[in-house]
Amino acid sequence: MLFAANWKMHIGPGEARQFLDRFLALDAPRPGRTVAFFPPAVSIEAVAARLAGHDHLSVGAQDVHWEPQGAFTGAISVALARGAGAAAVLVGHSERRHVFGETDAETGRKVQAVLAGGLQAVLCVGEQLIERDEGKTRGVVERQLRAALAGVEPSADLVIAYEPVWAIGTGRNASPGDANEVHGAIREVLADLGLPRTTPVLYGGSVKPGNAAALLAESEIDGVLVGGASLDPESWAEICAAGG
Ligand code: 13P
Repeated sequence: MLFAANWKMHIGPGEARQFLDRFLALDAPRPGRTVAFFPPAVSIEAVAARLAGHDHLSVGAQDVHWEPQGAFTGAISVALARGAGAAAVLVGHSERRHVFGETDAETGRKVQAVLAGGLQAVLCVGEQLIERDEGKTRGVVERQLRAALAGVEPSADLVIAYEPVWAIGTGRNASPGDANEVHGAIREVLADLGLPRTTPVLYGGSVKPGNAAALLAESEIDGVLVGGASLDPESWAEICAAGG
């Protein structure tokens, strides 16, 4: 199981060190469980340094540019993320798509760049509320997967995160059954693309200590990607203890 914390635009390097001191005091490692932190880029190095020697804990970047270098003010490349200690990258998070206007095609270029750079790609997909209400969930998720994963090799280090946009930061989460159904549909698309059905598929969107266990009990849910409730070491440790 994979427990991923997306800190979004929170927690600088000093706070990250304090957070991890507290989290490490609360967390008991479990076989078969990995915990990954996705801090802001400025905190990747501090998190990597604090996690050194803890094999079940890792750090990643929230976003990268697909180009290896160049005049892209504000962006970081895969190599820069890796140099800071990142082992993975979130790609196509709904805030990248819907706040920053990232397209399916750009998401695909980022997946290719991350994999070519030897890091794990955590591809985020999910429908908006109007799309769900119109019965388009499956179609939207399938379009996002096909656009981002064309040409990806079956051996790629890939994770999918299903995050319905209407559930992010709203306190509304998909029911475990609904999430499980979409995860099953994601696996069908993966298989159709020649990718392993065993690719981990995480659920994200208002995951809290109170609902994590029910989500993780579903057969198709391999872990969680958590925003708000990962910003507090106590609630994050509680979530990471769920689903065992
Ligand atoms: P919340 O857990 O705050 O809803 O955020 C989910 C998310 O976007 C994780 O990537």
